[in-house]
Amino acid sequence: MDIDLLGKTARAMVAAGQGILAMDESTPTCGKRLQSVGVENTEANRIAYRALLLGTPGLGDYISGAILYDETIRQGNPDGIPFPELMKQQDILIGIKVDTGAKDLALHGGEKITEGLDGLRERLEEYKTFGARFCKWRAVITIGKGLPSRACIEANAHALARYAALCQEAGLVPIVEPEVLLDGDHSIDTCYQVTVETQRTVFEQLYRQGVRFEGMVLKPSMVLAAKDHARPSAIQEVAERTLECLQQTVPAAVPGIAFLSGGQTDAQATRPLNTMNRLAQDLRLPWRLTFSYARALQHPTLETWRGEPGKVEAARKVLLQRARLNALASKGEYREEMEQQQAA
Ligand code: 13P
Repeated sequence: MDIDLLGKTARAMVAAGQGILAMDESTPTCGKRLQSVGVENTEANRIAYRALLLGTPGLGDYISGAILYDETIRQGNPDGIPFPELMKQQDILIGIKVDTGAKDLALHGGEKITEGLDGLRERLEEYKTFGARFCKWRAVITIGKGLPSRACIEANAHALARYAALCQEAGLVPIVEPEVLLDGDHSIDTCYQVTVETQRTVFEQLYRQGVRFEGMVLKPSMVLAAKDHARPSAIQEVAERTLECLQQTVPAAVPGIAFLSGGQTDAQATRPLNTMNRLAQDLRLPWRLTFSYARALQHPTLETWRGEPGKVEAARKVLLQRARLNALASKGEYREEMEQQQAA
């Protein structure tokens, strides 16, 4: 294992003032996003949309890496420039989603297990020929009546650890993503307990499989009350409980934590990241705290574009602004007024 290379890549992924653009939606999920703005889910439209994102001038100032889907890493923009090449031009590291999706966990109604280990070693070798430097695997943990089960947490943690080991063996940095879903009506306390238990189990499994913590990036969900809970969590509360959770679970050797947005809206995902980074200065936390958002970065961009070629430049401006605000939040330098400046 080339731990020097892994450490260098992992640190670059979470470099100060930068974060990760997750644009690794599977074809059906990309279809849902496109359809939400009235665009048909055709290959040409997926290419047009991803060319819009990756062709944004200046994106590399705020985005250290972007996570692609299997289809996307093989495609290019309408001018014939391969997407991986477009990323290299902006110093954006190439990432690739390598799991094959969350399937029903046998004998555990309502719970999921992420698949994709079969043939992974060979797939990683192929992705390296496209210039990939890091990978992503997402596990989902559902909170509900009597859920999650230990079986679900352990099976997903084990799969994450086996995936991470294969990545490191291949010289690719694993993004380890155990997402605790926000669906339901559970409280922030329940979310905290489940997230602590999940992350502890994940790090125990990573350790057992020999994964080096300095050569990985954790991509967790923030700790907050579920979507249908009576009282939405305040920003300060989300920041404090999330940091408390990380302090109880994440080894100091991990270079960085890049949060998912989990269905929080644009600014909703920016604010707690900013607050956490302000608090981090006093707490002297060992890891960088940044973003790896999909929806919270892409939503306003998609809304502006809506499939219209004449709106590409406006949509790119919106993406750049959102990336900039999150990059500022990753240093604790975001201010609420900056949202208005965007509107102006
Ligand atoms: P969201 O930011 O939309 O939650 O997506 C992040 C991601 O990569 C999901 O796997």
